[in-house]
Amino acid sequence: MVMDPYNYRNDFPLCREGQKEKLIYFDNACMTLRPQQVIDRLVEYYTFHPGCGGRSLHRISSWVTENYEGARDTIAEFLKAPDRDGVIFTKNATEAINLVSHSFRFNRGDRVLGTDHEHNSNLVPWVQLMNKGVIRYEPVPSMDDNTFDIEKFKEMIPGTRLVSMVHVSNLDGTRIPEKEIVEISHDSGAIVMLDCAQSVPHLKMDMKGLDLDLMVFSGHKAMGPTGTGVLAGKPELINDLDPFIVGGDTVHETGYDRVEFLDPPKKFEAGLQHYSGFIALGTALEYLERVGMDDLHEHELILNRYATSKMKDMVRIMGPSRPEDRGGILPFQVRGLNPHDVAMMLDEIAGVEVRSGKHCVHSWFKGKGEDPSVRASFYLYNTKQEVDVLVDTLSTIIEDFT
Ligand code: ALA
Repeated sequence: MVMDPYNYRNDFPLCREGQKEKLIYFDNACMTLRPQQVIDRLVEYYTFHPGCGGRSLHRISSWVTENYEGARDTIAEFLKAPDRDGVIFTKNATEAINLVSHSFRFNRGDRVLGTDHEHNSNLVPWVQLMNKGVIRYEPVPSMDDNTFDIEKFKEMIPGTRLVSMVHVSNLDGTRIPEKEIVEISHDSGAIVMLDCAQSVPHLKMDMKGLDLDLMVFSGHKAMGPTGTGVLAGKPELINDLDPFIVGGDTVHETGYDRVEFLDPPKKFEAGLQHYSGFIALGTALEYLERVGMDDLHEHELILNRYATSKMKDMVRIMGPSRPEDRGGILPFQVRGLNPHDVAMMLDEIAGVEVRSGKHCVHSWFKGKGEDPSVRASFYLYNTKQEVDVLVDTLSTIIEDFT
């Protein structure tokens, strides 16, 4: 069944009819809007239960502990994670990857494989480790159409310790063949971590079905609050990580010369936590569950097909030509115009919000010798009528300025 965005728009304050500023939000790959239910959950915490989880035993704190751990259950179920105690709360996907890069027990000279599409969050930690002489890091180059080169990957996998790859690219929406990658990596003795920042909000996840070792995502791209991220993994791998940030609530016992850590997830969540944030992230994922991930994905494809067909002769679409290979992402360049100027004019003229630049994937632009792009990215509340406004405004910009 095709999803109707008009069934949901009223839940999102910026999409409601009668807004003073009528905005068209197409920057969903950066951050999605939040439904009222998520906003209400944050307010509920601060209004009625503004306490600390896991410590004090009074009723305010008990509510926090119960709801914070309840959110962990919801998130684990959403991901079909192998173990709810292997779901670690972090500040964002970047911090989750840093937790692994700092805590994984690498042997000097171990090889880590990425793709040539990595966001800086899944590139900088590895390049830094390489520059410290700990690991060797190599990206698997893409095919000419920017899709994943599985044959090249098969050539490169022998001797690899960790495969750390972006599941769906924020740059052009390309998706790696996750199942094959996990199977090939495991056959070769490598562990696989996926950066799912752009897949968790848009696709059905099944860590257990995939036999995925580790994964990360950010709450703010999945209708959750900023400052929420997750590392999830198989218990034996999570148990084996050393805590990265240590302190209160990570320990069973301390002395002046010794520390006894608690089991995961506690040992990784030092200090007071973003309780309201994770409780509300649980609410966001419940909302997505109700929408249905398959319907949501189909809706994004419908919008991308529609936009691609209207724009393909007006602009240079980057990445694969088939919208099916780009999910909800549409990157493009307007010949003769700076992408930042295009983005600002779209906002100025019609309140169309898109992102422009290198999208934190500088390495790809440098490697390919490409100029920056404009990026429209779609989500559940977007409509074909909004795409029409983008197309008409672009057409005016092109007519007037090129
Ligand atoms: N990774 C985010 C984006 O692509 C910030 O916009």
